[in-house]
Amino acid sequence: MAANLTSMSEYEEYAKEMLPKAFFEFVSQGTGHQDTLRNNLKSYKRYRILPRYLRNVEERTMSRTILGKEVAFPIGLAPTACQKLANRDGECAAARAAQDLNTIYTLSSHSSSTIEEVAEAAPKGRKWLQFYIFKLRQISLDIIALAEKLGFEAIVLTIDFAVVGSRDTFKKYDNPLPAHLSLAILKKYLDSGVLRRGELSDATADWSYIKWLKSVTKLPIIAKGVLTPEDAILAVEAGVSAVIVSNHGARQLDGVPSTIEALPEIINAIGDKVEVYIDGGIRNGTDVYKALALGARMVFVGRPIFWGLCHKGEEGVKNVLTLLKNELDKALALSGCPNVDDISKNNIVHESHYSK
Ligand code: FNR
Repeated sequence: MAANLTSMSEYEEYAKEMLPKAFFEFVSQGTGHQDTLRNNLKSYKRYRILPRYLRNVEERTMSRTILGKEVAFPIGLAPTACQKLANRDGECAAARAAQDLNTIYTLSSHSSSTIEEVAEAAPKGRKWLQFYIFKLRQISLDIIALAEKLGFEAIVLTIDFAVVGSRDTFKKYDNPLPAHLSLAILKKYLDSGVLRRGELSDATADWSYIKWLKSVTKLPIIAKGVLTPEDAILAVEAGVSAVIVSNHGARQLDGVPSTIEALPEIINAIGDKVEVYIDGGIRNGTDVYKALALGARMVFVGRPIFWGLCHKGEEGVKNVLTLLKNELDKALALSGCPNVDDISKNNIVHESHYSK
């Protein structure tokens, strides 16, 4: 009998065995010397949880409001390109899993399914739509119109993509992605030559782009990719409703801080003004706990969605999210916090505290 997978690293090992080498490397790797990739994971281990005991923790709750509406637990799905690499239902399977568990699914503009397909697969689920800054503003307008019409609740604007990071998989395999997978949302613009593959983003953009976005949609705008308090303040001044502290899963500039390192200063700068979320390197419920303790309102996971999809499609995504959720629940019970809102900075300390 096949053994159950019991940790995120076992899901990752399974995917490594099952996926073609080029796909696995495309998903799992970062850029450059992979320093930020390693640091995203290691930084979580540098924090310790401070448990408090003898507090009634029998009844526990993980639900929270995010942009005014409830999620069952504060772990959502980050936008990642081409989820059909891992499973033939790709984005639709992952969005259904999120709908079933009552959390947020973020659809990438580089997805291998269309906006319409994902809206139909998970009509009642909470869905956000991510895109980059396209040179041609009509592309953004078309995508926004569809997102509004099909019930997406927010636009996630990824700001860390002036150019594509230096990824070895593209150098090594020319193009690691299989020919049958297209960028479904962008296909018509690519096929007609309006959008060129090498120019998926507008490198001339500045913060005024967000002001323009606000003038063309009533949907809340979330800036994804903030790593400094200075940019967090500029994002708030430009009118975003939330920011995601992210280094793109270490896939853009190698050498930037891990996201959990960057979080405290950003919370200090804007935490009382807008909601702050985080992604990058979250592989365990205690990582989620630590991010919440340092002030994040919610966390998002990227690669774990691929591992779940690869294992068992929709059910596999539910399983990886439930794994993280159950680990978070255990951490709540064992640290004296019956409600996620009870987790505070009193529950966390950096390891340097013990070497003073
Ligand atoms: C990504 N990420 C990403 N981000 C984005 O804004 N648009 C996108 O299309 C993609 N595509 C993408 C593909 C793959 C294969 C990966 C691994 C990541 C980044 C993603 O949203 C998120 O920031 C990170 O994945 C979070 O880090 P972890 O959870 O993967 O460590």
